[in-house]
Amino acid sequence: MLTQFSFHAPSFVVSERNGCTKTGGLLKSYGAEGKVLLVCGSRTSGLGLLDPVVDSVRAAGLEPVVFDKSLPDAPVEVVREGLQVAKREGVSAVVAFGGGSAMDTAKAIACMAHLEGDVLDYCRGTVAPSPRKCLLFAIPTTCGTGSEATDIGVVLDRQGSYKYIFANPFAGPDVAILDPLLLLSLSPQMIAATAMDAFSHSAEAYTCRAANVMMEPLALYSMREIVTYLPKALSTSGEARLDAIERLLIASCMAGQAFTQVGLHLGHAIAHGIGVHGHVHHGAACALALPYALASVSEEIPDRIRAVGELLGAAFPSGCDAKEIGRLVGEELLRFNRSVGIQSLSQYGVKEEQLDAMAEYAVHEEGTQGNSYRRSPKEELLDYLRRIL
Ligand SMILES: [Fe+2]
Repeated sequence: MLTQFSFHAPSFVVSERNGCTKTGGLLKSYGAEGKVLLVCGSRTSGLGLLDPVVDSVRAAGLEPVVFDKSLPDAPVEVVREGLQVAKREGVSAVVAFGGGSAMDTAKAIACMAHLEGDVLDYCRGTVAPSPRKCLLFAIPTTCGTGSEATDIGVVLDRQGSYKYIFANPFAGPDVAILDPLLLLSLSPQMIAATAMDAFSHSAEAYTCRAANVMMEPLALYSMREIVTYLPKALSTSGEARLDAIERLLIASCMAGQAFTQVGLHLGHAIAHGIGVHGHVHHGAACALALPYALASVSEEIPDRIRAVGELLGAAFPSGCDAKEIGRLVGEELLRFNRSVGIQSLSQYGVKEEQLDAMAEYAVHEEGTQGNSYRRSPKEELLDYLRRIL
């Protein structure tokens, strides 16, 4: 674990049941005036989930402008359209409301609202990031991304089949509101997938090259919370379910705080390949990729891999060598995945002929691969993808 690092926690975090009704007041206290852009997906606005936020913005004397066209993976065309709306309306704040894609979309819009140039140029760094002129708030409706309090955004270029990652200190929301009541309508599949995304954020952050002593407790604690509360969120109802979902939402924010400091590694490189070429939900792809990502570095960092396994309840025979630790932790993780309903790639419609493109994508994703203790050969990756097909 590194002892020399920088640590940036960008967001004021409010965790409160019904906290979303405070959005307008908080926006006002942060200096918002005039119009506020609310970014979400059409399903979210259709369910009426956004209504209390709209009401709260109006009650604070602000004018809500709803952009409810956010799509999975934040395609660049949608971001461009939202950006046009933000500029045309002259909004003073952007509020992200939804899962990771709504937040990625809103982050890119808020970061570029005062800039000229194209979104992809911003992602590539040829349009330089500079301090935002408009406020950015984030209200998650899933328990996975942690994006509500991270400096990172992802935009999909469908034409180029590539997910661009932008990360800079201005991309972190000013305020994150964690309101578990907003997650009650999530399906068990969605809760499992998003919580495993959060687990992967912590597990990869904890086992990457850049891991440091200050983010370590956030990573370890959030993994422990997810192992405890994900099964409860899936097996209980009423107040017990709400309690479990609340803990998962907080754990996901903690995991976001852990990985925004140090980045991720192989698991997300593979998951992005699975997402781009197989259109599997990001969280499920992460869950399925993580066992390999951890096992593949067990000879370099056996103690850290073992610590993740112990959180999951894995048993290690005495004298167990580093390679065996990796194998056992990978198996334990696959077992945990199955227990929460995440079994295989084919469950999500992936076909054998798509695996090669996924492996090819993963070995070339420098941003995350380069943070792993070990570079995986494509053939090895392909073997693993076949195994989880
Ligand atoms: Fe993720």
